[in-house]
Amino acid sequence: MSVTSTPSLQGNFAFPTELPATDRLPWRERWPEQPSAQQPDWPDADRLAEVTDELSGMPPLVFAGECDLLTERLAAVTRGEAFVLQGGDCAETFAGSNATAVRAKLRTLLQMAVVLTYGATVPVVKIGRMAGQFGKPRSKPTETRDGVELPAYRGDAVNGFDFSPQARRPDPGRLLRAYHCSAVTLNLCRAFTTGGYADLRQVHAWNHDFVADSPAGQRYERLAGDIDRALAFMRACGTDPAELHTVEFYSSHEALLLDYEYALSRVDSRTGKIYDTSTHFPWIGERTRQLGGAHLEFAKSIANPVGVKIGPGTTPEDLLVLIRQLNPDRIPGKLTLITRMGAGRIAEVLPPLVDAVASDGAPVAWICDPMHGNTFETQSGVKTRHLDAVLDEVAGFFAVHRAKGTHPGGIHIEFTGDNVTECTGGSFELAVDDLHQRYETACDPRLNRSQALDLAFTVAESYRSQET
Ligand code: PEP
Ligand code: CO
Repeated sequence: MSVTSTPSLQGNFAFPTELPATDRLPWRERWPEQPSAQQPDWPDADRLAEVTDELSGMPPLVFAGECDLLTERLAAVTRGEAFVLQGGDCAETFAGSNATAVRAKLRTLLQMAVVLTYGATVPVVKIGRMAGQFGKPRSKPTETRDGVELPAYRGDAVNGFDFSPQARRPDPGRLLRAYHCSAVTLNLCRAFTTGGYADLRQVHAWNHDFVADSPAGQRYERLAGDIDRALAFMRACGTDPAELHTVEFYSSHEALLLDYEYALSRVDSRTGKIYDTSTHFPWIGERTRQLGGAHLEFAKSIANPVGVKIGPGTTPEDLLVLIRQLNPDRIPGKLTLITRMGAGRIAEVLPPLVDAVASDGAPVAWICDPMHGNTFETQSGVKTRHLDAVLDEVAGFFAVHRAKGTHPGGIHIEFTGDNVTECTGGSFELAVDDLHQRYETACDPRLNRSQALDLAFTVAESYRSQET
């Protein structure tokens, strides 16, 4: 199945033909008994109850039918017919939920998608780490600076980034703000992707402010020229398919804050199934995917397509249990495994996992997060990643899947549309000494636009060469 051959999302967005999933679930009754890792220590239980009640009466941000369509798209990935591009900030912020920043991120995602679609000749499923990525798991519950210890920053949905007791106190009211910022962001994304901005005829315009001084931009410009000629040829032949004028875009975030995710879960009136309507594609993080834990229980209860991050400590036995729990009916597209092994470990730890899944026969999409296994601190204590390590992990991912005859189904990355200096390397050869220039992330270091395009070109080449 070609990913562009079924109806576009537009109809669903403007005039849902079926009733959207609006039935409220009493969230507190659904709260499981299991231990829940990485939850904030909310200081005010009454306020939390008020907030979750309010959230459970809010309109859904996404519709069940859209989630089902994404499951179909991801089923094409499990069959080896499509490729996932998932990315965005490590941590979205309320301040960053504005038109300029959202457009810049989306534009970078569109440019990467064009490079992949054209360069690798594969349909690309576009998923933003956007419109809900406001909660962060942390390795330590507190942070100490100059002898002062305060709660760690857990994302704008929980507390403030500033290092002060007031800012770091978890505030349930932030969950409501996260909902509203998600709504604004998703609305912008829907408008940009269906209202003309994502039209392929804009392929040069997305690059406009970028081309002159950037090697990645210049390389992109050449590719855009080829696409223009192909489009002109198609028009001359009398064809101008609607699929070239809009883009199907999906949202995703880590389903971390269970107060929020349960409050936004709804029963779909068509099917009676429960959907998490905070996002199309929730994923469970490496730190919260314990068997028997509350996050897994939540993921099991919803009909959305779900992702789960798996790190180098994952055993084949645990993985098979995880797969059975998350996709007992073996629905293609329901489950995506997001591997984040580290460039140095992937060749050793991924093969036994791929073997175990292949011999079990479970349908999964394998995608590669080459960011989270490759973070290190510079001597002066700045968290960074080198683009070469990111590329090495992607190369290792392709090599393993090629050797095993399985499909390398996509990439999951942290990037921004701005010219930040948070990761080293890339065509500008950013060095550790450059990092201070524009280091703006609220959490992990992100690829800037140029590095993101560098990555897309390399991935497109790897994909193409493994097909031949
Ligand atoms: C993340 O994606 O930002 C994250 C925390 O990842 P992981 O669960 O892989 O550590
Ligand atoms: Co991160």
